[in-house]
Amino acid sequence: MTEEDFIGVFDSGVGGISILKELTSQLPNEDFLFFGDSANAPYGEKTIEQVQKLSCDLAGRLIDRGAKAVVIACNTATGAAARMIREAYPSIPVVGVEPAVKPAAMILPKKKILVMATPMTLQQNKYRSLAARFDAQTTLIPLACPGLAARIEEGELDQADLLEMLEQLLRGYVNQIDGVVLGCTHYPFIKKQIRKILGDIPMFDGAAGTAKELRRRLEEAKALTDRKEPGRVIFDSSKKDPKELLLYEDFFRAETTV
Ligand code: DGL
Repeated sequence: MTEEDFIGVFDSGVGGISILKELTSQLPNEDFLFFGDSANAPYGEKTIEQVQKLSCDLAGRLIDRGAKAVVIACNTATGAAARMIREAYPSIPVVGVEPAVKPAAMILPKKKILVMATPMTLQQNKYRSLAARFDAQTTLIPLACPGLAARIEEGELDQADLLEMLEQLLRGYVNQIDGVVLGCTHYPFIKKQIRKILGDIPMFDGAAGTAKELRRRLEEAKALTDRKEPGRVIFDSSKKDPKELLLYEDFFRAETTV
């Protein structure tokens, strides 16, 4: 990949790959550079200042490498730092992700929707004002999931310890809710495991909305590629272990639409 004309995508770790999958499917001719900050994951249990610093640094490094647009493929980092990044780089399209409360409320009006997310996402004003917009339409039940993103970072998603963690988090909601918002980009990788506990209920994530918004912003900036050949995807990580990049490729191949 020439170090220009690519879209930089970052997350605290593997989670953003669930967004990357949708971006590459909706914008197949674009080149993408995905950066996972796995050495610093999880973000959702840090202070807001720490997440702001890490996110602004990562966005800056992607832009220095030549990114024509940046996708913050992390709900936690979007809530903490999207505004700062946009202010620092006003000429670059910067697209974030937010919990998919809006599509969930439209499809399940007057129903009970569990919003699974990191502790930090649910504490932020950004989430509170999003939830307040849909409160009259539907019942949103926030569920902070400390430890879950960190466990997903390790891979091996069918192991008993992960199912046990989910069982503990979700057991009080069996037959009590009508849908789930996956408000952390790590969680689409464990849809099957969540369904094992909650049954076959609708789940919503922010990937499609993020890809649509990225296309709109690139069109607006006249920055969509005119290449006809398939774009390339490069992975990079702050965890300098070659195994980490293989893990990212495994996640990129994993099914998230089940
Ligand atoms: N994947 C991220 C999110 O969407 C953050 C997970 C974490 O690092 O805590 O919030």
